Amino acid sequence: MSEIKKIGILTSGGDCAGLNAAIAAATKRAILGYGWEVYGIVQGTMGLMNRPLNYIKLSTEMFGIDLTFKGGSFIGSVNKGDPLNYPMPDGSFKDRSDEIVAGYKELGIDALVAIGGDGSMRIIEKLTSLGNIKFVGIPKTIDNDVACTNYAIGFMTAVQEVTNCIERIHDTAMSHRRFIVVETMGREVGHIALNAGIAGCADVILIPEIPYDINIVVKKLKAAHAQKGYGVIVCSEAIIPKGGTQSFTEKVGHMKLFTGAGQRLGQEIETNTGIETRVSVLGHIQRGGRPIAFDRNLASAFGVRAVDLLANGKTGRLVALNAGQIVDMDLKEVNSIQQTVKINGNLVTTAKGLGISFGDE
Ligand code: F6P
Repeated sequence: MSEIKKIGILTSGGDCAGLNAAIAAATKRAILGYGWEVYGIVQGTMGLMNRPLNYIKLSTEMFGIDLTFKGGSFIGSVNKGDPLNYPMPDGSFKDRSDEIVAGYKELGIDALVAIGGDGSMRIIEKLTSLGNIKFVGIPKTIDNDVACTNYAIGFMTAVQEVTNCIERIHDTAMSHRRFIVVETMGREVGHIALNAGIAGCADVILIPEIPYDINIVVKKLKAAHAQKGYGVIVCSEAIIPKGGTQSFTEKVGHMKLFTGAGQRLGQEIETNTGIETRVSVLGHIQRGGRPIAFDRNLASAFGVRAVDLLANGKTGRLVALNAGQIVDMDLKEVNSIQQTVKINGNLVTTAKGLGISFGDE
């Protein structure tokens, strides 16, 4: 059994629905189950880098229904400024990992629960091994690209939100006899576009894993227009035209900022069909809002299991959902893989069976 008396919890990477529910669950389990003290570290690893340290002492009483199921992260999160390669004001980059490890020691915590996406997990794995810090990760991301878990916290809520938006787009596209392109987030993977595109009855779904041929897209849309007078295209932000490239601007540090895919596609469609085409970029709407029941329960299950793992002396693990079971995986193994859409998987096969085009055949 462990010697833990105090733990820290942080959220890192782009926010999503269900983060507060995970913090609440880990806090309740740590206090009620083990009598530990719990500290929320503010703005991810920044809270340990800043001096004075930036943290909040957490209690079970804080977590009524309003805070537990509020969108976002009430302790804050960061998705830029890799501490291992931190952008300094003079334009140089600095490894600031030792400041974070020193901050962890100063706070006097015995272990960390880190709620993050794939990028954050890679950084935290390095930091914790450098500082010999006990650590369990909880996967969260609307992109659903963390490997070894069927779902990360926040993904299903984002899919529901995007589905609701696509339904509204049908109404207006139909009234004006237009094509409307709906651009989703998702970075290099197409899970949001694929799942919401099927649920929202898209005519065409374009994802980065399946490069598209504009001529095939146009043929499908002309047929849709002839049949019902309009068409809805759901495209992921990092789609790739056959023989072409993704549309992005490089951000400072490790992160690419994908921009303009929907606009570029909308123009191509309008030029090639002669039919008025509009573009709706959903953006950060996908990340905000209260979690749906699935994400509330997933966050709760992950939070409780993460603390139980620490109590049982485990470290370097990631909690995960696998075929309906909450399991834990070696974080190093998880970090070596990215969960992309399987191009011959169930969902793509389902969509094709429904007559939805991916612009590939
Ligand atoms: O990783 C989550 C995500 O929402 C991506 O889907 C998107 O590309 C990115 O974050 C947007 O980041 P930012 O909040 O910096 O605009």
